[in-house]
Amino acid sequence: VIRIPGRETEFIRDLRSPNRFLVNRAAFTDDTVLAREREEVFARCWIYVGHVSEIPKPGDFVAREVAGRPILFTRNSAGEIRVLLNSCSHRGAEVCRERRGNQRRFRCFYHSWSFDNDGRLVSMPDEDGFPEGFRKEDHGLAQPTSVDQYRGFVFLTFNDEAEPLVDYLADAKYYLDLTADQAAADIGMAVQSGTHEYSMKSNWKLLAENSSDGYHAIPVHKTYLDVQKSRGDQIAGNTEKDWKASHAFDLGNGHTVTVKQAPWGRPIARWQPSMGEDTKAVVEESYRRLEQVHGAERAELIANLDFNMLVFPNLVINNIMAVIIRTFYPNTPGHMNVTAWSLAPKDETPEARRVRNESFLSFLGPAGLATPDDNEALESCQRGYQSRPGEGWSDVSRGMDKVDPANWDELQMRTFWRRWDELMGGKA
Ligand code: FES
Ligand code: FE
Repeated sequence: VIRIPGRETEFIRDLRSPNRFLVNRAAFTDDTVLAREREEVFARCWIYVGHVSEIPKPGDFVAREVAGRPILFTRNSAGEIRVLLNSCSHRGAEVCRERRGNQRRFRCFYHSWSFDNDGRLVSMPDEDGFPEGFRKEDHGLAQPTSVDQYRGFVFLTFNDEAEPLVDYLADAKYYLDLTADQAAADIGMAVQSGTHEYSMKSNWKLLAENSSDGYHAIPVHKTYLDVQKSRGDQIAGNTEKDWKASHAFDLGNGHTVTVKQAPWGRPIARWQPSMGEDTKAVVEESYRRLEQVHGAERAELIANLDFNMLVFPNLVINNIMAVIIRTFYPNTPGHMNVTAWSLAPKDETPEARRVRNESFLSFLGPAGLATPDDNEALESCQRGYQSRPGEGWSDVSRGMDKVDPANWDELQMRTFWRRWDELMGGKA
């Protein structure tokens, strides 16, 4: 039960006998909830920053927002990963106004203070004009409390009491391993150029819920499924029977995953007619390479297990027809910004890359056949909440009495909400 100061509101009802899980819709609309989320969720958890492949060389950087804060994701001259807060220690301007590049120094355009890519203040005009006792070493760029990476996925936290990243990730590590292992260790995976950035008029937690919600796939993604069918692709895996053969897991710490052996073609795994005859041999060859590196059993898992994972609170890995890294952050209770990247083995052939890019655009992109339908569903929820402002409960009970929930049950959402409630101070 969360009690927002001044508003005695209960946000989660997690009941047994009968099993009912209800979420107060004020959690999606209330300003005080968002203010508290910024402190209790986004400033306390490990938050995804980017992938090491985005900054391969010393001095490479990308500027972006992480947990609502402008940051520089960079490598220092020794090649070590650094995250610097993009705000000048002088009077606060952004020290870098480019989206990406390679720099040994970041020079603030306002009064020309310069910082190296470890964040140290190295020079400023009229140094002699500062009073005695002014020390450059006290005026470096601020940094998060900790930055760490797991298999190339870099995270930060602003919490000085945070557990190590490797513990925070809990069983999500197993699925990050399956993702990273799609390329041989000496080759590696890389984020592809062409980032999707878009916004949605809905609460950020609706996207957390939807990211592993199998229940909506048949009604919402009918257009895409029809297109697949018309191309002669196998779409088994989208009947009630197939979805029930899927599984949903609580991975600990609010992380959650749904898995199934879907028939989506993936360049490392399965060929589908729409990929074109010429790619058949390419896909089969990728699979043989996986077997050589990892052995038959693990190759089968890496290639054929499809999963949608949420790493609490706002990182989604969709390992389906392509591999998508997606992250999102609220501006207001009813609006969020979303960023998505495509991750691929660096040595993939051009034919396989074409297939992957097509899925990234045609299914998972903001102008594709699936993502806009998801977005409309989430925006529709947000509009629907206005029907009874400050009232109403959403039901998230499906599969609650099952020992082995499937991906169209709602264990995923309950896992997320229970952790959210715990961090927000609730005792549901
Ligand atoms: Fe950056 Fe003044 S604000 S140098
Ligand atoms: Fe969807």
